[in-house]
Amino acid sequence: MNKSHHTEGLFQKLLSRLGLFLSLCALNACAFLTDPMSTFDAQGPIARSQLNVFWWSIGLSFFLLIAVGGIFFYAIFKFKAKPGQEHLIPEQSHGSTAIEAGLIVVSTLLLLFIIIPNLNSLWLMDAIPESEKNGKEPIEVIAIGHQWWWEFQYPKLGITTANEMHIPAGVPISIKLKSVDVIHSFWVPKLAGKLDVMPGQINWLWLKADQPGEYYGHCVEFCGEAHAYMRFMVHSDTPEAWTQWVDNEKADSTKPKEALAINGKEVFMNGCNACHTVKGTMAAGVIGPNLSHIADRKTLAAGIFEKTDANLYAWLKNPQAMKQGNLMNVASMNLTDRDITALVAYLKSLK
Ligand code: CUA
Repeated sequence: MNKSHHTEGLFQKLLSRLGLFLSLCALNACAFLTDPMSTFDAQGPIARSQLNVFWWSIGLSFFLLIAVGGIFFYAIFKFKAKPGQEHLIPEQSHGSTAIEAGLIVVSTLLLLFIIIPNLNSLWLMDAIPESEKNGKEPIEVIAIGHQWWWEFQYPKLGITTANEMHIPAGVPISIKLKSVDVIHSFWVPKLAGKLDVMPGQINWLWLKADQPGEYYGHCVEFCGEAHAYMRFMVHSDTPEAWTQWVDNEKADSTKPKEALAINGKEVFMNGCNACHTVKGTMAAGVIGPNLSHIADRKTLAAGIFEKTDANLYAWLKNPQAMKQGNLMNVASMNLTDRDITALVAYLKSLK
């Protein structure tokens, strides 16, 4: 095999790989638009302005790629040696002040151009504009990062919940970020973020969801063993659903009525209460997630499981098997299978 054959084979290989890559990209194009954590599906003003910065940056980069690449290929073909003239040295020059000055001016203009959407986005993130309030007071939330779950407090409403944050659609939400241990990061790709959640420092952001819906959030700063499982959800509610949620969260948890659930409460008050709070009972622990109205939540273990009976059971039986690294300690409680079944019944009764 001679050298040119070899290069041709390589070239064909590269082409087919490129074709495969491009088809995968095309397939992915659909996936990244519909993914629950897609930043391309902005559902609020902050995420939209961030997406806008992305598109302007990509557009400008693409323009530069085409322009520089075009000039490059033009030069290759225009100035290549003609047949029989390979020995000739082309005419040499020592630069052109006009071209160099022109390039500096064009580069500066392009930079100024890309600063506009960036500054727009920064100003938007810096404070909630009156135009976004629509005459409504922003809802205040304190989001607290824990290894490895999220606490959400609504200081003006007297509500504390965990891992599933409710907000009214179309109303700006003012969020203070705190951490009780290490650095986490708050991100709801379709709404807003990312912002670090620091111990000993309060960071602030605001967000707004245009429409009612469910949005996925994730911790995006490596924070230890279960970092990858530190998710959360944002439920954007209709005005009626929001009022109903607030009223329910403000109230005490419902008292268990069935015998099994009542039994589960006894088990709960014999250990679980040390770390968890259930509003209206003796349980007032603050180390683990507040479980006051856990029956109304859809997920378990910081958003990583659907909250089914089977998953609740499996979680109480062996949390480490479900979410490696988590800090819930059930081993010391020596729970029997019957205890666990009773606990599941009790947790399901906490509306
Ligand atoms: Cu918390 Cu990563």
